[in-house]
Amino acid sequence: MSFIDEINHANALIVGASQGIGLGFVKKLLQDERITKVYATYRQPESASELIALESENPERLICLALDITDELQIVEIVQTIRTEVKKLHLVINCVGLLHDSNLQPEKSLRQLNSENLLRYFQINSIGAVLLAKHLLPLFRHGERSVFATISAKLGSIGDNQLGGWYGYRASKAALNMFMRTAAIEYIRSSPKTFVVTLHPGTTDTRLSRPFQGNVPAEKLFSVERTVSQLLGVIEQLQEGDSGKFFSWDGSQLPW
Ligand SMILES: NC(=O)c1ccc[n+]([C@@H]2O[C@H](COP(=O)([O-])OP(=O)(O)OC[C@H]3O[C@@H](n4cnc5c(N)ncnc54)[C@H](OP(=O)(O)O)[C@@H]3O)[C@@H](O)[C@H]2O)c1
Repeated sequence: MSFIDEINHANALIVGASQGIGLGFVKKLLQDERITKVYATYRQPESASELIALESENPERLICLALDITDELQIVEIVQTIRTEVKKLHLVINCVGLLHDSNLQPEKSLRQLNSENLLRYFQINSIGAVLLAKHLLPLFRHGERSVFATISAKLGSIGDNQLGGWYGYRASKAALNMFMRTAAIEYIRSSPKTFVVTLHPGTTDTRLSRPFQGNVPAEKLFSVERTVSQLLGVIEQLQEGDSGKFFSWDGSQLPW
């Protein structure tokens, strides 16, 4: 039996749901009748039109909230909104991540490093997640089983790094893994029924991977739908003692 089956009226929060894997989770959870409410955050309406359209089609179940994860005050505000409405969350998946944008490309060599870009990677990929762990804790302390998953990346595994490059992305995901491992230990004490895990989705066809898909064999490039099903499978199979671990899309544990 999965952990969601054990709960009546599960509430979910997907952070970074405007597009890509996060939007895929929202679509999948809306099809699942065990989930009563889905909260979904987006940073800017321009890239969230599909999500916002879904909200108008499902006004009773989907609630969209604006959140830039680099602003702690905005995290506090969305948590307050959720607390006044439902008081408890059972599944939170943080899908926020940055690899490239118009001002920033992953570094191929030390020559390309600059502190401003490195700080952006850490602010978005690492610090946002641990601030979520800080402020979401009261919504998890309800005594029912719950999961707080953050999408990390195998590129953040220090032990697995054979190729080098992509300094900021790799280091920010490694920091993310350490933040969530540390938060998991504190959660075991203060919210013992909450699993805190980091998940590697596998290369998935989204804006983030698009410029780098050239060398990826077709069978290793997952659709968003496939990734979402695989990661929900991993989440549903979590067992006692799994909190604080870093899992790949196939359920195997990854080296730190
Ligand atoms: N795709 C892959 O192959 C792959 C592989 C390994 C790991 N991952 C990880 O999977 C996660 C999801 O990525 P994706 O592939 O779905 O990429 P994506 O389509 O680019 O989605 C990234 C999401 O993060 C949001 N975001 C970026 N900066 C933000 C900020 N400051 N505040 C709030 N939200 C912000 C984006 O919102 P906007 O629309 O507003 O920009 C978007 O919703 C990321 O953590 C990524 O590192 C992906």
